Amino acid sequence: MEKQDISTKIYIETYGCQMNVADSEIVVSILNESGYEKTDDIQSADVILVNTCSIRENAEQRVWGRLDVFRQIKKKNPRLTIGVIGCMAERLKEKLIEEEKAVDIVVGPDAYRELPRLLENAGTGQKAVNVILSREETYADISPVRLDKNHISAFVSIMRGCNNMCSYCIVPYVRGAERSRDPKSILKEIEDLQKQGYKEVTLIGQNVDSYNWKPDKSDKVSFSQLLEMVAQISDKLRVRFSTSHPKDMSDEVLYTMSKYKNICKHIHLPAQSGSTRVLERMKRGYSREWYLNRINAIKQIIPDCAVSTDIMTGFPGETEQDHADTINLMKEVNYDFAYMFKYSERPNTYAARHLKDDIQESIKTQRLTEIIDLQNELSEKSKKEDLGKTFEVLVEGFSKKSKDYLFGRTSQNKVVVFPRLNHTIGDYVDVEIIDCTSATLIGEPTSKKIN
Ligand code: SAH
Ligand code: SF4
Ligand code: F3S
Repeated sequence: MEKQDISTKIYIETYGCQMNVADSEIVVSILNESGYEKTDDIQSADVILVNTCSIRENAEQRVWGRLDVFRQIKKKNPRLTIGVIGCMAERLKEKLIEEEKAVDIVVGPDAYRELPRLLENAGTGQKAVNVILSREETYADISPVRLDKNHISAFVSIMRGCNNMCSYCIVPYVRGAERSRDPKSILKEIEDLQKQGYKEVTLIGQNVDSYNWKPDKSDKVSFSQLLEMVAQISDKLRVRFSTSHPKDMSDEVLYTMSKYKNICKHIHLPAQSGSTRVLERMKRGYSREWYLNRINAIKQIIPDCAVSTDIMTGFPGETEQDHADTINLMKEVNYDFAYMFKYSERPNTYAARHLKDDIQESIKTQRLTEIIDLQNELSEKSKKEDLGKTFEVLVEGFSKKSKDYLFGRTSQNKVVVFPRLNHTIGDYVDVEIIDCTSATLIGEPTSKKIN
C-alpha cells in the first residue's frame, strides 16, 4: 500500500485494434481508482503496461521488440514492474514470462479488474498470470479514462468477444465468446461524452451486427435499435460503428443509417476475398454473390455511403483464379479505402490445424502489391469524385504541416484539410473540395463562422 500513497506512475502502450484502444482506457480507469496515475514519460514510470495484439505474426514481433526496450529500462530501474496485457497475454499465458524474464504480470482481456491486486503483489516480487476469460464481463460500469488527444471523438465498446470462428482468426481464442453490453450503460456513457463536449462516437465490436441484448424477451435490443437510440441522443453528435460483418449486416441497419443525418455514411465491410471457394475455406459464412448483394443494398439505400474493406491475400490454397476474383471484386465494389494483409498462420486456429500455409512468401508479396496498387487507384478515383462537392466536416485538429490549416473528416470518413479562418477544433464546417493529394482532400470553407 505504501507504494500507492506516493502515487505510482503507470505508462501504457497500446497495439492492435480499436478494442484495445478502448480497453486501455478501461485499464487506466481501473488503475486510477486504486491510486495509480498515468504518465506519458516512460523513463519515470513505476509500471509499464503493453496492451498487445496477436492478429498476425508481425503484430507479436513488434511487441517482442518493445519488451527488449523495456528490459533495458528495467536494468536501470529494478523496481520497475512490466505487465503484458491484451490478446498476446491471453494467447501465450505463462510462456510470456518464461520467454522474457523481465515480464512481471500477464493479464488477459477479461481480467483487468484484477490488475490493482496483481500489480501490488508484483511490487513484492510475486509474478502473476491471470488469463481467465469470462462469459459476462463487459466492464459496463467502468467509465473509461479517455486517452485521445483532442476530446472530439471516442470509441465506445458495445460488445466483447466473437462467436464466428473464421478459420484463420485468433480473436475468438484470445477474446472469448461474444457478449453484448447493457444498452443503458452504453447510452449513459455516450450522454456523458456529449456533455463533456465530444462530437463523435464510434460503437465498436468484432461483429456489431450481431449485437443482441436480451435479458428477457420484452427488453430485446438489436444493433439497429441501439444505433437508433444512440443517434437520438443529439443531432450534433456523429455516430460511427465498426466492424460490420457481411453475413449479418441487415437492411434494417441501412434504413436506420439513411434516416439519421448524424449516423455517418460509411460502412467498413471486410470482404477478405472475392472467391467463394476461398470464403468457404475461411468459414466466413457468405459467398461472393451474397457479399455483392449487401454492397448493392448499401448503394441503393444509402447512395452517398462510403465503403471500406479488409482484404487478406495468400490464404492456403489460394489460386491465381481466386486472386483474380479478389481483384475483380475490388474493381466491382470500388472501395473508398482498404486495409490489406498477407495471410499469417496463427497457432491452433482451424486453418493452422487443417490447411497447409502453402502459398510461397514471394507469391503473397506479389499478390499483396497488386492489391495495394489497385486500391491506391481506387482511393484516388474515390477522392477525385469528390472534387467540386461540399461536405460537412467535423474538425479534429490542426494540420500537421501548418497551424493555419485544420483537418477533419466528412461523414464518409474522408480526411479534409482546409484553411482555418476563424474555425476551431470541434466545429462542423461546410467545406468545398477543390483538390486532393494521395491521402487527403483539400478544401475551402464555404462560409465563415458566425460568432
Ligand atoms: N471482426 C472483423 C475483423 C477483425 S481482425 C471481421 O470479421 O471483419 C481485422 C482483420 O485482420 C481481418 O478483417 C482480416 O483481414 C485480418 N486478419 C485476421 N486474421 C488474420 C490472419 N491470420 N492473417 C492475416 N490477416 C488476418
Ligand atoms: Fe475474427 Fe471472424 Fe470474429 Fe472477425 S468475425 S474477429 S475475422 S473470427
Ligand atoms: Fe489484435 Fe486482439 Fe484486436 S488480436 S486485432 S488486438 S482483438
